[in-house]
Amino acid sequence: MRVQGKPCQTIWETPDATGLEVIDQRVLPHRFETVTLTTPEQTAEAIRTMVVRGAPLIGAVAGYGVYFAVNAASAHLDRIAQKAAEQLAAARPTAVNLRWAVEQMTARILAAPESAKCAVALMAAREIVAGELDRSRRIGEHGGTLIQTIAAQKSGPVNILTHCNAGWLATIDYGTATAPIYWAHDAGIPVHVWVDETRPRNQGAALTAFELGEHGIPHTVIADNAGGHLMQSGRVDLVIVGADRVAANGDTANKIGTYLKALAARDCGVPFYVALPSSTFDWSLPDGAGIPIENRSADEVRFIDGLGPTGPVTVRLVPETSPAENPAFDVTPARLITGFITEQGISSHPLRPS
Ligand code: MRU
Repeated sequence: MRVQGKPCQTIWETPDATGLEVIDQRVLPHRFETVTLTTPEQTAEAIRTMVVRGAPLIGAVAGYGVYFAVNAASAHLDRIAQKAAEQLAAARPTAVNLRWAVEQMTARILAAPESAKCAVALMAAREIVAGELDRSRRIGEHGGTLIQTIAAQKSGPVNILTHCNAGWLATIDYGTATAPIYWAHDAGIPVHVWVDETRPRNQGAALTAFELGEHGIPHTVIADNAGGHLMQSGRVDLVIVGADRVAANGDTANKIGTYLKALAARDCGVPFYVALPSSTFDWSLPDGAGIPIENRSADEVRFIDGLGPTGPVTVRLVPETSPAENPAFDVTPARLITGFITEQGISSHPLRPS
């Protein structure tokens, strides 16, 4: 997508392919900065501290983390790759893309002859990136037709509500939940996006609003609590969210607060779609009860980051003595989900990749 009018993806290799440049998502929208990753340790830390975030993106970056480990070693490459994969997979627990990507990497490395392991690792990391890019593009095409159909039935823009950031910043490009929105906008279909701010880390207010603004898409940031009211008032035609892990029955883990939006959507008769690449399905889990929910630091609730008159500021919101808790994801039961938008098309239930 675009930043200041120029095409941009979330990650790119350094010229000698020994490192990965990533956009530092902690400082957006106020500053556009990049960080260079060259080791598996730096990569795991960037994932843990959310320099990079979003399920497909952390998987793709973790792929490079495994490659960095192999690239720096001269012997025992299989063992080194496996150890790096374990460390990277542990950086964040909920998004299954992380485990999926490092498993792809280790399978390819273990199967390669010793002399080719490093080249194969680089090739595998690049293929994960190319695969996610292609899946996002196809999610956009399929989901875009959904928006097109709604647009044909009403006058004025199609109003879409989204939660967190499942945009291009959370993938390689296009996004998952936002891919259909970009597709529709680029096809000349009028759209307007309600952007949940997404406390406590405000990925909606900071990241989704930034990327929609850079692409010229009309949008309005709302407090997380406003969505139900807007749906009741007929001001939301469609909800599209992303996912961090979808169990075989369709139960969907996504950013905390997604479940409440699905409940409101069901009560108001608003269609609620989950957009995801096949790398986000966890076929080993029969339902959402087994999805690990990440608990992040309570300081993310106690404090809030912003831009002050002289630069970035962090301020305390909560009384010093009040405890706080920060579950980062929730699980929306499959029964509340109208459909899944994947690279294969739109379906009322999870479809295994063909
Ligand atoms: O904690 P985050 O910011 O990594 O959470 C991201 C989300 O919940 C996204 O909705 C999800 O990863 C889908 S990204 C295309």
